[in-house]
Amino acid sequence: MLFDTHAHLYDEKFQYDRDEMLAHIFETVEYVVVPGEDLETSAAALALAHAHPQLYCAVGYHPHLAKEMTDEAFAQLETWTATEKKVVAVGEIGLDYYYDNSPRDVQRDVFTRQIRLAKRRGLPVIIHNRDAHGDVMAILRAERDESLFGILHCYSGSYEMATELIGMGFYISFAGPVVFPKSTKLKEVAARLPLEKLLIETDSPYLTPPPYRGRRNDPSRVYYVAEELARLHDVAVEEVIRITNANAKAVYGIA
Ligand code: NI
Repeated sequence: MLFDTHAHLYDEKFQYDRDEMLAHIFETVEYVVVPGEDLETSAAALALAHAHPQLYCAVGYHPHLAKEMTDEAFAQLETWTATEKKVVAVGEIGLDYYYDNSPRDVQRDVFTRQIRLAKRRGLPVIIHNRDAHGDVMAILRAERDESLFGILHCYSGSYEMATELIGMGFYISFAGPVVFPKSTKLKEVAARLPLEKLLIETDSPYLTPPPYRGRRNDPSRVYYVAEELARLHDVAVEEVIRITNANAKAVYGIA
């Protein structure tokens, strides 16, 4: 069974057929983790996790919305991560210097506060990184200790950076872009990394892989990411599904 480690299932693109979509995906998908982007979407992710045994969630402020994280909002994240069994990570958090929707100093501060919260709770972090490789790595190196671990979501960096991240206790997660024919460099990186440190995700409703590009994405399509990793590693797709499922359960602490 597949494990989609990252899907925004509260998105309005699912508002008219969410229950049908979930019934469909659970034919092939064992678990999905739904990460929040702010207080409202974190609450929505938690509500979905409460309603469906096969859904878990993460709570946190995305770098796009970092400037909106008040002290009251952070206190709510502290409460949820302490009391809610279905919260299995802090995320998605990180830095986005492509859109710069929040000032960079605010992004760095909010990212660091949430990393420290995850460390206090013994939870993994789910990291979004766009055009901010240097500062993401500088913050992780500074925060590095035995309590820091997590996931680099929708990975787009180099082999060398991935190797350093794995050494710090991180898993590398690949999404639809690794399936795109033009992603030759990303495919080379994915082929060189050990399957024991890889995860698969959809980032639904975004990043739909071929052959469905342009349509709404859903967690069942994480199969195409597994299929591409199998091709790159020259192993059976069942092997990739088995290993990435076990990896996801390990990092999120799901038995
Ligand atoms: Ni996401």
